[in-house]
Amino acid sequence: MENDLVQISPRPSEQALLPSTEGSPPIRLTTPHGVARRKTFYIETFGCQMNVHDSEKVSGALVAKGYHPVTHHEDADFILYNTCSIREKAAQKVFSRLGAFKKNYSGNTKIIGVLGCVAQQEGERIFERAPQVSFVCGSASYSKISELVDRLEAGEHRVTGLSLETDECFETEVTRRDNPFRAYLTIIEGCDKACAYCVVPMTRGPERSRPSDAILAEARRLVDEGYTEIQLLGQTVNSYRDSSPARLSFPELLLRVGAIPGLRRLRFTTSHPSDFTPEIVRAVESLPTLCDHIHLPVQCGSNRVLARMKRTYTREEYLEKISCIRGAKRAMSVSTDVIVGFCGETEEDFSGTLSLLDEVEYDQIFSFKYSPRPGTTAGKLEDSVPEEEKGRRLTILQERQRQIQLRKNQALAGREFEVLVEAFQPRLGQSVGRTTSNRVINFPGEPDWVGRYMNVRVISAGPNSLVGVRTEPGLERRSTNAE
Ligand code: 5AD
Ligand code: SF4
Repeated sequence: MENDLVQISPRPSEQALLPSTEGSPPIRLTTPHGVARRKTFYIETFGCQMNVHDSEKVSGALVAKGYHPVTHHEDADFILYNTCSIREKAAQKVFSRLGAFKKNYSGNTKIIGVLGCVAQQEGERIFERAPQVSFVCGSASYSKISELVDRLEAGEHRVTGLSLETDECFETEVTRRDNPFRAYLTIIEGCDKACAYCVVPMTRGPERSRPSDAILAEARRLVDEGYTEIQLLGQTVNSYRDSSPARLSFPELLLRVGAIPGLRRLRFTTSHPSDFTPEIVRAVESLPTLCDHIHLPVQCGSNRVLARMKRTYTREEYLEKISCIRGAKRAMSVSTDVIVGFCGETEEDFSGTLSLLDEVEYDQIFSFKYSPRPGTTAGKLEDSVPEEEKGRRLTILQERQRQIQLRKNQALAGREFEVLVEAFQPRLGQSVGRTTSNRVINFPGEPDWVGRYMNVRVISAGPNSLVGVRTEPGLERRSTNAE
């Protein structure tokens, strides 16, 4: 799964979207000195981009209720942790946060809530483990968040939203987007696949797609607000099924969103190989706004393990999808997710994963040691590969991939790319840009270049990023749309 390079505070134009406090006075609290002040909240997010975007929507819902966001939990009346339980370590993080919190804040009047995957999986058990928590809500219940917060405000001590039986998507009037350049936009929630190792179907509920008219309206609004890059999100984004009369297929939706005037970059993640069709490749190659990057998690290169993982495709079928991508008129970068040490994985199975890396030559991989999760089908099997051996395999895998990336990146020396400048590192005097293929390029720059599109020529490369120089400013007038 991708990690965002930068987290940036809301743009001024976005602030204008927050509901005006005129006419509807914000909720106010009275301090011990009798001075009224606005209610404040703080959200900390763990995990994937879906969680990041869920937090943006929950923040929007709270702002719409008159709450005011703060950046330090010390200043907040309402503290929320949006949690991840995809691997055990991620799930433990929230309890360590809550533990530290108990020490710091015993006897205080703050409201503490747990959202997301741990909330859904642990449910009311969280109240026993962390009695300072009074709100537990899984993502399938976020559409009820306003009512649930009303109940907390009315003085209820333990409020939960834990039902998974929903056909609704979480829609908010206000979304407090954190990244000023890339707007996340959920098109499908939940997951109907049943990968043996994965908690997501249990924590996020069944698959439900948003109607394409609502997606297109939100995308147009985002472009009007000034976003030039949108990333469509879903656990299995390409399993999208339009419930509106237009009945757009996923590739049709990509083409419609990608054609919105003013949009320069459209990304989508995460695609499931079984639902990955040649039409998706045709759409990407035909419209330059669709970024030349496909994230296609393979998980493992051995058919025996893929079957045990219930991944619904074979190595050969996966490689066919890759050759379809490689055969496209426009070169596309490909990234993947890999799990090592799944139950019963032999040395031979693992060699299959290594040979797959050699065969595909991914541009980037995200690799993990298998972590047994409660409630999953694999959670009942013996976790047969010892931790040490998982670590050994992960190191070998990452080293193999490092060499592939280094070789591929070095071959880009001399090439010129349009980048969106996402950050500036003052200590190094370097701007950090991202290509449409999702590569990071560092180049000498200025603080006020952030947010601009620039052309950069690659002069050298490491395994994880490129080093470049900005080329003739005159060339920068070309927009991706016009190419
Ligand atoms: N153990 C290790 N990695 C996991 N992933 C999902 N579940 C597990 C697990 N139980 C990885 C997969 C997925 C990515 C988001 O996290 O590779 O694609
Ligand atoms: Fe988990 Fe598989 Fe669904 Fe991805 S497709 S979210 S790995 S169950």
